[in-house]
Amino acid sequence: MNDRQKIRSIGILTSGGDSPGMNAAIRAVVRTAIYNNIRVYGIMRGYAGLIEDEINELNSRSVANIIQRGGTILKTARSKDFMNYEGRQKAFENLKKRDINGLVIIGGDGSFKGAQLFGKEFNINCIGLPGTIDRDIAGTDVTIGFDTAVNTAVEAIDKIRDTMDAHDRLFVVEVMGRDAGYIALYSGIATGAENILIPETKTDIEDVIKGLLEKEKRKKLVNLIVVAEGEEFGGANGVAKIIKEQAPNTDLRVCVLGHIQRGGSPSCADRVYASHMGYYAVEGLIHGKSNVMVGIINNKIHYTNFDAAIKLKQKIGQEWMKIVKILAI
Ligand code: F6P
Repeated sequence: MNDRQKIRSIGILTSGGDSPGMNAAIRAVVRTAIYNNIRVYGIMRGYAGLIEDEINELNSRSVANIIQRGGTILKTARSKDFMNYEGRQKAFENLKKRDINGLVIIGGDGSFKGAQLFGKEFNINCIGLPGTIDRDIAGTDVTIGFDTAVNTAVEAIDKIRDTMDAHDRLFVVEVMGRDAGYIALYSGIATGAENILIPETKTDIEDVIKGLLEKEKRKKLVNLIVVAEGEEFGGANGVAKIIKEQAPNTDLRVCVLGHIQRGGSPSCADRVYASHMGYYAVEGLIHGKSNVMVGIINNKIHYTNFDAAIKLKQKIGQEWMKIVKILAI
C-alpha cells in the first residue's frame, strides 16, 4: 500500500513471548535507522505501551551492550486492548503526535495479526521480524530465538540422560510449544529420543506403549520421550499417566523444562539472524515496504506478506516421525 511513502520516524516494539536475540534485533533496527537519519522510538511492553504512551526516543547508545542479553530491553506483553478498535485508535494518536509513520514489530504470528490490522486502518507502514522460540512462522527458515531455545533444551536433556541412564529409567521431557513442535522435534532428534510427540502430527499412543513393552522385554529400559507442551495427550504429565496405566512396571519420571528455554544469552546464530533481519527491516521501510515480515530463506532476505506468514505457518512433515522411529531401534 504506502509505496514510497517517506519514512519520517520509526517506532519499535517487542510483543508476545520474548525470545533470545530480540535485543540484538532492537540494536540493529535502532542503529540502521540512525545511520539513515531517521528518528527511532522504543515502545515499552508491546502494543500495551503503544496504547498507554510509554514511548521514548532511542539513540545509538541506548542499545549499547545489549546484543548478548536475553529478554528484551523494551519488555513485552500480550495486549487485549489492541484487539479493539478504540485501543488501536489510541495507539495511532500516540504515534501521530511524534510523527512516527513506520513501525517495526518483533514477535510471532499473534503480533503480526495486530500489526496487519493496525497498518491497514491507520496507514502506518508496519514491518515484522520473526521473534519466537517456536519457529512456526512461514516465509523464513529461521526465527530469532529458536536456535538458543533448542540448544538450551538439548543441554538440559543431555543432563537428564546421564541420570536416566544411571537408573535405567524412562523419562518424559516436556519442552515448550503450545501450537508448535519444532523445539520438541529438533531437541528430540538431537538427544536420541525414542519418541517425539508434537501438536502437528497425530500420535498412535498404543504404538508408543507397544514399543515400550517390547523394549522392556529385551531389557532396554532407558527410554526418552520428548513431548511438546501442546501435544494431544496433555503434555508430559498426560503422556506419563497413560504410560503408567498401560505399562505399570515402567520406572518413569517427568521433567517439564518450561521457561528456562526462553531465557539466556542468545546463540551466535540468533544474534546474526537478528542483526541481518533488523537491518533489512529498516531498509524495507525506506524502500516502501509495508505489511510484510522480513525472513531469511536459503541465506537470503525475503519479505513475506503478513497474511502468508501467519496463515501458512511452518509445517512438519510426517516423514520426520519415521526417521525418529528408525533411529531409535
Ligand atoms: O510462543 C512462545 C511460547 O514460549 C510457547 O512455546 C509457549 O507455549 C508460550 O510461549 C508460553 O507463554 P507464556 O510465557 O505466556 O506462558
